[in-house]
Amino acid sequence: MGDALRVALAGLGTVGGGVIRLLDANRDLITRRAGRPIEIVAVSARDRTKDRGVDLSRFEWVDDTAALASHPDADVVVELIGGSDGPALTLARTALGARRGFVTANKAMLAHHGLELAQKAEESNAALKFEAAVAGGIPVIKGLREGAAANAIARVYGILNGTCNFILSKMEAEGRDFAEVLAEAQALGYAEADPSFDIDGVDAAHKLSILAAIAFGTQPAFADVAIGGVRHVLAADIAQAASLGYRVRLVGVAEEGANGLFQRVHPHLVPLDHPLAHVTGSTNAVVAEGNFVGRLLFQGAGAGDGPTASAVVADLIDIARGEYGASFAMPAHELTAAAKADSGERRGRAYLRFTVQDKVGVLAEIAAAMRDAGVSIESLIQRGEAADGGVMIAIVTHEGPERAVAQALERLRGSQSLVGQPLLMHILG
Ligand code: NAP
Ligand code: HSE
Repeated sequence: MGDALRVALAGLGTVGGGVIRLLDANRDLITRRAGRPIEIVAVSARDRTKDRGVDLSRFEWVDDTAALASHPDADVVVELIGGSDGPALTLARTALGARRGFVTANKAMLAHHGLELAQKAEESNAALKFEAAVAGGIPVIKGLREGAAANAIARVYGILNGTCNFILSKMEAEGRDFAEVLAEAQALGYAEADPSFDIDGVDAAHKLSILAAIAFGTQPAFADVAIGGVRHVLAADIAQAASLGYRVRLVGVAEEGANGLFQRVHPHLVPLDHPLAHVTGSTNAVVAEGNFVGRLLFQGAGAGDGPTASAVVADLIDIARGEYGASFAMPAHELTAAAKADSGERRGRAYLRFTVQDKVGVLAEIAAAMRDAGVSIESLIQRGEAADGGVMIAIVTHEGPERAVAQALERLRGSQSLVGQPLLMHILG
């Protein structure tokens, strides 16, 4: 049995508390698997007096979180604070600079600074591991980095935000309001400190940019992700989608093609015969299409203390075993800066929902905008019920260029017939 891997733990909230509980519960098994014990030696958070439901008296408490980076007894720093910059980034830079291993669940920081941190880790010959940053407990980073490493990946896509999936599936099952269900997701510990990151698609975009970098060997390019969230999806949209044979899911898609790297997070209509349509609650699922392995589907708990701690501790076990390589599956200098693909060139079908005034000529105005932009309508449904003081019109388009749909919406911008903004959802092909 080797010497213990000594851990300094920053952040004792949902995930940090989960890590302590998991190491306590599975100590013997983990020691046998890692070939050595994994021991927390020091911890830090903001409030020393807070009751966290775990015994912290056995660990050294460090008031200055940044000091964990150079703690004399620590081999590895685990960062579970969050935030793209601030104390998390300071800790990452200083820990890696001090040649300490670094484990994090912080997708925001990796999306913004992943390349710099990977370079720093390589310069220091230190481990940088972040399995928990994408899709919670699902070993999708390991799956792509290691299991699928021999493949060229054509496309990676999936449900990457547990909070949104929880909200959409609750809205669907119970016909409840968005705000009420969000409060429930927050109470369960799924939501980010700023829940707008979840519901506006930013958190899923952080994760997508990390997955894309690993899948395609490109530098993380969060700024190139087109982002839309679920805030404006109505229960009526979900019901309409169901009547057409679809479920509404927030899906992140990354694809590499001749025009560059395409990355988008947006609510989609997912056909009922697609596995993503059956992913409910805070579950996440990622599909990767490899040129030799074919379609891989990774599915499991995407958020919460237990699943996320499971991924954090798996990284620690890898480090304890001495099994870690390049953070993004290849050395940082090999990652290319991909051009951003033009979404207008993409072809697909779309769902468009308008809330309109119930008056003569409105339908003709919308149909004319579609015709003038070259959008072919597959079906159009007008519902008599009032929504936002208007009438709901739902359109499903035939397959065509996305540019045409954008042009049709542009033609309708500012129309006096519309009540509120139209909603566009792509149909997962
Ligand atoms: P959390 O419950 O809000 O916990 C954050 C912890 O960080 C708290 O212990 C807090 O201290 C501490 N903290 C905050 N600001 C600090 C500062 N300036 N200096 C020192 N400590 C500070 O967050 P969480 O849900 O555990 O998430 C942690 C990380 O895991 C985030 O990057 C998140 O995106 C990621 N993640 C979370 C989940 C999930 O399901 N929750 C899943 C995957 C990834 P106090 O407790 O004293 O206030
Ligand atoms: N807020 C995130 C989610 C936590 O809801 O998926 C997991 O990354």
